[in-house]
Amino acid sequence: MDSITLWSLLATVPILFLISALIIIFHRKFIISRRVKPSSSILYRRSSIIQLPLGNLGWPFIGETLEFISCACSDCPESFMDKRRRMYGKVFKSHIFGSPTIVSTDAEVNRSILQSDAKTFVPFYPKSLTELMGKSSILLINGSLQRRIHGLIGAFFKSPHVKARITHDMQKYVQQSMNKWHENCPVYIQDQAKNIAFQVLVKALIGIDQGDQLEFLKSQFQEFIAGLMSLPINIPGSRLHRSLQAKKRMVKLIQRIIQEKRDRSSVSTVSEDVADVLLNDTSEELTDDLISDNMIDLMIPGEDSVPVLITLAIKYLSDCPAALQQLTEENLTLKRLKEKQGETLVWSDYLSLPFTRNVISETLRMGNIIIGVMRKAVKDVEIKGYLIPKGWCALAYFRSVHLDNNLYDFPFQFNPWRWQNKETNNCNFTPFGGGQRLCPGLDLARLEASIFLHHFTTQFRWVAEEDSIINFPTVRMKRGMPVWIKRREQTLN
Ligand code: HEM
Repeated sequence: MDSITLWSLLATVPILFLISALIIIFHRKFIISRRVKPSSSILYRRSSIIQLPLGNLGWPFIGETLEFISCACSDCPESFMDKRRRMYGKVFKSHIFGSPTIVSTDAEVNRSILQSDAKTFVPFYPKSLTELMGKSSILLINGSLQRRIHGLIGAFFKSPHVKARITHDMQKYVQQSMNKWHENCPVYIQDQAKNIAFQVLVKALIGIDQGDQLEFLKSQFQEFIAGLMSLPINIPGSRLHRSLQAKKRMVKLIQRIIQEKRDRSSVSTVSEDVADVLLNDTSEELTDDLISDNMIDLMIPGEDSVPVLITLAIKYLSDCPAALQQLTEENLTLKRLKEKQGETLVWSDYLSLPFTRNVISETLRMGNIIIGVMRKAVKDVEIKGYLIPKGWCALAYFRSVHLDNNLYDFPFQFNPWRWQNKETNNCNFTPFGGGQRLCPGLDLARLEASIFLHHFTTQFRWVAEEDSIINFPTVRMKRGMPVWIKRREQTLN
């Protein structure tokens, strides 16, 4: 060992010691400060005292975030929650993503969090995300404007006229895409589903069909979402900055389209897309700027979730031949019937397939595309005897509920039959959230997945290559779900 190395080692030891001592002192102070602050840790109500749930706030600043992330990235993503559930119960305190947080893996507590309004909780997202979304995003705003936009979008996607149009578009995009598939190279389901779902979404939101505008939006949106999980540093050249620039370019295009809609003197009275719905609304708060900004923000929850749902369904079906066979038979029967009657399939046909619906529900339960939602308490809140202090976050963690063996037998087994005669509308099953922020795209998501599964299973047989599910930062397949296909016509089946 030369002298420089020796000196640097000797110098490093006290520095490390000092840093450790500081961390320990600060850490203890940090925890103690939370224990002794009566207004934020204990709530006195009549004769009872409501206390903070048990748990650990971890290290200063980073809290337990690193352990949360390392578990989420591991082969056992449940380990973070399971360990704490065993130690502290279904509701516990932690410190993740920069905020002291009450984590709930309890279905009833989750329901209360979801049902609460903005007087109790407001949405909480990482800073990079809020910077990208902007203050007027539907994902962030509260109160009457959020309820109004949410109601308009929800009603639009529920209308039979829109479902008919979306079904027509989706069939067209699916068929165009499937016609290009080859048998001598693998088809990457994740990419294909992403491409199709993006086309459907953009058409439903602003009426852009094919061509340069669609390609432009696609490329800019990829640049935009790359910054969703970036460091919140907005300086030229940073990831966040590049994403914001991409958003500006998209907003410019959308503003032009909105202006064209206005110039046509009447925005179509039968709303053809979400932009029409919002433009037709008489509320003065719905300015053109707010609408164009929100068109991009609406793409965030819609863009990735549906393709992941489709891809996971194909993954689970590939691993469960009995379910695949029943789903294929159900869809072939419908296809033959429609051919015999000389009719094309309409949206209600797709949604009338009970086993297909169960496959989609089971995929949502096991896949946990959205693991949970985060809220910030705007006042001290008490739920089921637990205190959530003002300024703290509440994480309603759906994944643990969906995989709880007290609620679902063999929860890690893909079993679509468990949904036979079972209600999907209850607090043990919340893939689309609930309350005032219940996903307005849920019908669209189920319809799209149904259409894809119908066309895929009735036109192809396939063999899937080995692939695995990644759970963090978003759910997806590691290799994009490659499958080798055989067209059914050629196998005379
Ligand atoms: C499998 C597909 C999908 C899943 C699992 C999903 C899940 C969710 C969840 C859990 C929420 C609640 C968020 C919260 O409470 O903070 C939500 C909200 C939302 N989703 Fe979806 N979603 C899906 C597809 C879509 C699609 C296709 C759209 C289409 C535009 C969409 C639009 C929205 C919007 C706008 C909100 C925010 C509602 C509000 O805050 O008022 N989602 N979604």
